[in-house]
Amino acid sequence: MPNPYDVVVVVGSLRKESFNRKMARAMVSMAPPALKLEIVEIGQLPHYNQDFDSSPPKEVTEIKQRIASCDAVLFVTPEYNRSVPGVLKNAIDCASRPYGKSAWDGKPCAVMSVSPGPIGGFGANHHLRQSLVFLNMPAMQQPEAYVGGATKLFDDKGNLSNDETREFVNKFLKAFAQWVERNAAR
Ligand SMILES: Cc1cc2nc3c(=O)[nH]c(=O)nc-3n(C[C@H](O)[C@H](O)[C@H](O)COP(=O)(O)O)c2cc1C
Repeated sequence: MPNPYDVVVVVGSLRKESFNRKMARAMVSMAPPALKLEIVEIGQLPHYNQDFDSSPPKEVTEIKQRIASCDAVLFVTPEYNRSVPGVLKNAIDCASRPYGKSAWDGKPCAVMSVSPGPIGGFGANHHLRQSLVFLNMPAMQQPEAYVGGATKLFDDKGNLSNDETREFVNKFLKAFAQWVERNAAR
């Protein structure tokens, strides 16, 4: 069997007890054999400043290299004020510049949003997709993944314990594996 596809997982929350991080960790352990998922941290990045395009801080260079080397990206994000958390948008901006040198270019991706609320971060999920169009990242369309009611999905050790959600996540990851196989550069 060929090497699994290298998938960078970007979590849009820095919170220690983040539901999105718990979901990302669950997906790392549930990934089908065709995918190897790794969470890549974004909290260390400076605020994006176009002045540093010609000589970026090392945190920016490092994350750009990591993203450039991967086969695909999985975004797992909360919704803040019906949009994408600033920390995630900042990471996207940092790795997208200077113009013409975006690390995201062409990487197939998927978006999952997780919220305690009933509409599962729909607004953030779709605001993120707007950037993905410009970034030229083929984004999986189905199944859509707006995961609501997050307070009831994890046990006290942070494991994804809700059977119905586990089933959905399995389906989502299988579809993503097919999407990556179809759209990855290799
Ligand atoms: C600044 C801020 C804005 C928020 N706005 C929304 C929102 O628009 N929609 C929503 O469903 N939840 C919203 N929430 C609640 C988050 O969904 C909740 O805090 C969630 O746990 C954050 O994700 P995390 O657990 O991965 O950190 C907001 C929370 C914060 C701190």
